[in-house]
Parts: sequence; structure tokens; C-alpha cells
Amino acid sequence: MSNIKVIITKDYEELSEKAFEVMAEVLRNKPDAVLGLATGSTPIGLYQKMIEDCKNGGISYKKVKTVNLDEYVGLTPNNDQSYRYFMRHNLLDHIDIDLNNTNIENGVAADLPAECARYDALLSTLPRDVQVLGIGANGHIAFNEPGTPFDSQTHVVDLTENTIQMNARFFASEADVPRKALTMGLKGIMEAKKILILASGASKADAVFKTVRGEVTEEVPASILQNHPNCVLIADEEAASLL
Ligand code: PGA
Repeated sequence: MSNIKVIITKDYEELSEKAFEVMAEVLRNKPDAVLGLATGSTPIGLYQKMIEDCKNGGISYKKVKTVNLDEYVGLTPNNDQSYRYFMRHNLLDHIDIDLNNTNIENGVAADLPAECARYDALLSTLPRDVQVLGIGANGHIAFNEPGTPFDSQTHVVDLTENTIQMNARFFASEADVPRKALTMGLKGIMEAKKILILASGASKADAVFKTVRGEVTEEVPASILQNHPNCVLIADEEAASLL
């Protein structure tokens, strides 16, 4: 029996508004909340609403801490394709947060397994009040592709050929696309007190259906969310069309 609370919106704009309402409630109840953040195109509308609200004197992020899901291996924070850069550009540089309170895996660490262990230790000291997630068309969450064990912690992943090709458009050539990434594991994701997963567009409809109504299986990483006690999925009509 799925515990996931589903909110269906007419379009991406309304999805972003509803996501902001969920986020704002967390922050109003707890001004020093720990936020788990995600990259990808889907949360950008939510981040824009957070920026707009903060600039208009709304919620302050002075006491907030953040942890991100994943980072490419081999890209420095200043590389415009790194997820650190993405987060600064799309949110963190535009709200009143102290950047020292924002965390993401170090993709240029010399010892990657040690970096994963460091990140898990950090996560245990920063229990997340909410974790934002996007979802892949194959049901992946963060870089946890189908087949990732449900008990996985932060780990190094080899990107699939498909992901490398999909990402090539952002780089000068396919050879420049990172081959590896660091990602929070499924166990780490499930530790957040609340999960806010966002899905927009017809390409996500199958993954949304399997996440909410399908079998809980490692073949659909997001299906583990059915076991989370406080998970909200906001999908626009296209993404929710098979529900
Ligand atoms: P998207 O990516 O938000 O850019 O669709 C989501 C994901 O692949 O996790």
C-alpha cells in the first residue's frame, strides 16, 4: 500500500507554486531547517519561487543548512557543468544563505571512497527536514539507476552510456562529459523526515505510475518511496496521466 501523497497540478507553474508551499511550511515551522536539494530542470521553478519570496522579504535562509544529492567526478566547483555551480547559479547565490552552510560532495577529492564516507558522516550530523527530488524517465533518483540496492549509502557511480549521451549537449564534446559521479544512496535519501518529489511532462508518466502504483523493486529506484512515511509527489497533468 503506497504511502505517497500525490498532488496533481495543471501545469509546471502550478507544480512550482505547490512545491514552494510545501517548502515554505517546513521553513516557517523551523527557520533552521536542513534542506536536501536536487539539481536538474524540474526544481528550477521551485528555486525561482524561493528566490522571489526571499528577495521580497519573505523567508530568511540565514539559519538554514543544505545538503545536495550528487556531483560529477572530475569537475571543479567553478566548472559551469558542476552541480555546485548549478546550485549557486539557480538558488544559493540569490538567497540570504551562508554558503558555508551548503554542502555537496567534492567531485575532485583525491580519495573518492573516503569522500563518500565523509559525506555519510556529514549527513548523519545534518538530519534533513525535507529532501527535494526529481525523477528520471527510468525511475532513477539522484544518480541511483535501476538495480541500485535499496540499502545503498553515498557511493561512486559509473554513468551509463545513455546518461553520457544525454549530457553531451551541455559539453563541448562527448569526450568532455564526466564518466563518474558521486551520489547519495537510496538509504540516505530515505532518512530525510519528508520527501518532496517533483515530476513534469509526459516523459515522466511511466516512471510516476511505477513509483506510485507499481511494485516496490530495485528496478524502479523511486518505488522505495512507497515505504517512506511522509512523501509528497507533485506531478503536473502530463506526468500524472497514467495514474
Ligand atoms: P530533470 O531530471 O529534472 O532534468 O528532468 C530529473 C532526473 O533525471 O533526476
